[in-house]
Amino acid sequence: MVVDDRPRALHRRYCHGGQHHWRLAARQERCHHWRKAVSPASCVAAAADHSCGQPGPTRQVDALVAVDGLTLATWNERGEEIRLLDDLSLSLRRGEALGIIGESGSGKSLLVRSIFGLLPKGVHVAGGAIQVDDTEITSAGAAQLQALRGSRMGMVFQDSIGSLDPLFKIGSQLVEAIRSRRRMPQRQALQEGLKLLADVGITDPNRVAHSYPHELSGGMAQRVAIAIAICNSPSLLIADEATTALDVTIQAQVIELIKRVQSERHCAIIFVSHNLAAVAGLVDRVVVMYAGRIVEIGSTRDVLLAPRHPYTAALLKSRPQLGERNAQRFYLPGNVPAPGQWPDGCRFSPRCTLSRGRELCSSVQPALDPLASHGSACHFRDEMVRPDDALR
Ligand SMILES: Nc1ncnc2c1ncn2[C@@H]1O[C@H](COP(=O)(O)OP(=O)(O)O)[C@@H](O)[C@H]1O
Ligand code: SF4
Ligand SMILES: [Mg+2]
Repeated sequence: MVVDDRPRALHRRYCHGGQHHWRLAARQERCHHWRKAVSPASCVAAAADHSCGQPGPTRQVDALVAVDGLTLATWNERGEEIRLLDDLSLSLRRGEALGIIGESGSGKSLLVRSIFGLLPKGVHVAGGAIQVDDTEITSAGAAQLQALRGSRMGMVFQDSIGSLDPLFKIGSQLVEAIRSRRRMPQRQALQEGLKLLADVGITDPNRVAHSYPHELSGGMAQRVAIAIAICNSPSLLIADEATTALDVTIQAQVIELIKRVQSERHCAIIFVSHNLAAVAGLVDRVVVMYAGRIVEIGSTRDVLLAPRHPYTAALLKSRPQLGERNAQRFYLPGNVPAPGQWPDGCRFSPRCTLSRGRELCSSVQPALDPLASHGSACHFRDEMVRPDDALR
């Protein structure tokens, strides 16, 4: 029998270097759109077209966010393309809370910024796609992204005072954020803004509305940033290290606030944090990132209580314990390798004691099945019985 695979071949050629849903189609037989994809633009259109009633490749029927084979890169001074994020896939359901953990430099901020359509200068999408609701983010224009941000997506950063405009009072920034998406008189928007400030736990909304950003404490600024992020009832709230710079007690209050916002407003949350305790108390699922890749993904309980990747186990073991002396504390030796210096095979291999010089670890990159309920990108994940096993 002769099989005509020309459309698939075209798709593979044009579809982001073959990393997009063509590959998933081949592997999972779940793509219903590959026949339409003969150019990058039509490929994206095909991915967005679910009129056949069938879900796309990694997109679940009720998914709000679907990241599919996302690869980000930059150019170095010699004109070489350096990968920063490498073939990431994940999805987020409506109303779900997802945590992202990993050491500094793992790629957490780049991932959430790309979902928010706000890539830093000099960084480009080298492959893959991001779907938020019915919008394909990587191919959307600036105006479309601007409309999406602040209406269907809100984001809170680590440095909220820096992300507020220093020249305008909080009240007028809130009014502008509300009126940029909804037509209403200034007075009505101000009333709504004051109510929002009260909703996020600000006891004197009038005073705060008449303050400039530099007059606020860190915790207060973070509450204001959350109020602005949720003022138009987004379906997705992203918090990137939003509690990291705060005192422990204020941290706990802001985490409580995010929890309340999620349950009262039914919005999905992506919570990026170094604080594993905060992640554990807030999210339904956890993604662990290392050197530009997802190395483990699963329910919060599975990942934090029974990790199947030695890196997750090491992160858990190195978290500070109450009453522990410095000398007793476990530190994971080494650092996350910088982009462009990722080792061959498993990127964690130079720091992983479970590899014990195993050739497979330094030669073959372990894969993560994006559809597994508890996925681990480790060749020897089945040897991970207890968190400490990887660390002996
Ligand atoms: N604009 C950029 N240009 C070049 N490299 C970048 C840029 N932004 C981030 N990176 C690099 O990408 C990697 C991941 O960064 P980031 O997502 O900020 O990590 P994390 O949030 O996990 O600390 C880091 O090595 C960082 O140096
Ligand atoms: S694949 Fe090998 S080096 Fe990588 S985490 Fe697993 S055991 Fe460690
Ligand atoms: Mg970051």
